[in-house]
Amino acid sequence: MGSVLTAGVLISGSGTNLRAILDRVADGSLACRIALVISNRPEAAGLERARTAGVPTRVIPHRDFPSRDAFDAALVDALRGAGVELVVLAGFDRLITTILLEAFPQRIMNIHPSLLPSFKGLHAQRQALEYGVRIAGATVHFVDEATDHGPIILQGAVAVEPEDTAESLGARILAVEHVIYPKAIQLFAEGRLVVEGRHVRIRGPRPAPSPPLVPG
Ligand code: GRF
Repeated sequence: MGSVLTAGVLISGSGTNLRAILDRVADGSLACRIALVISNRPEAAGLERARTAGVPTRVIPHRDFPSRDAFDAALVDALRGAGVELVVLAGFDRLITTILLEAFPQRIMNIHPSLLPSFKGLHAQRQALEYGVRIAGATVHFVDEATDHGPIILQGAVAVEPEDTAESLGARILAVEHVIYPKAIQLFAEGRLVVEGRHVRIRGPRPAPSPPLVPG
């Protein structure tokens, strides 16, 4: 690894997590260089956010490839070509294969809008509301072969309010995501994350919870 971590971000949509990451890079609280942003969808708003920040972008439409493996091989080529050491999935809507996992072992992160292992998959915020939980939140984890499953790096919690809709709850969870994702990347950049089976040990002082949990 060089002196500053080189990361690549994969997006499919609005890219607000990407924006939060770019903002933390810009204000110096995230010591990392975003070398490339890739979207599988040309219309992804996050592409414009990246361009505005002067970050190189690529559109690699998954539909142009005959298989998931072939698509992932193209992603690996592009990421390696940009010198990427850490792959950051930020609202990337494709399931990834062993092609990508084996190219970047323990070097792919994802963020999911629930307190894993609850509410994996799509519409996690709605799942949480429908289940009736009092506490919801977001999880940053390393990616493994199973969806929303790999070792957990950081989580942040929010109280569920009686009047919440999936949208209002989702917005509060997103605000937490924007705090914990850059933090998790910074911990990785500092070499402080040690994966031991399902557990991620954080070397040095434990980061404070984000935000402090408010009883609902
Ligand atoms: C976030 O809720 C994230 O947890 C999920 O996809 C959404 C992406 O949002 N994986 P954005 O594109 O970063 O705004």
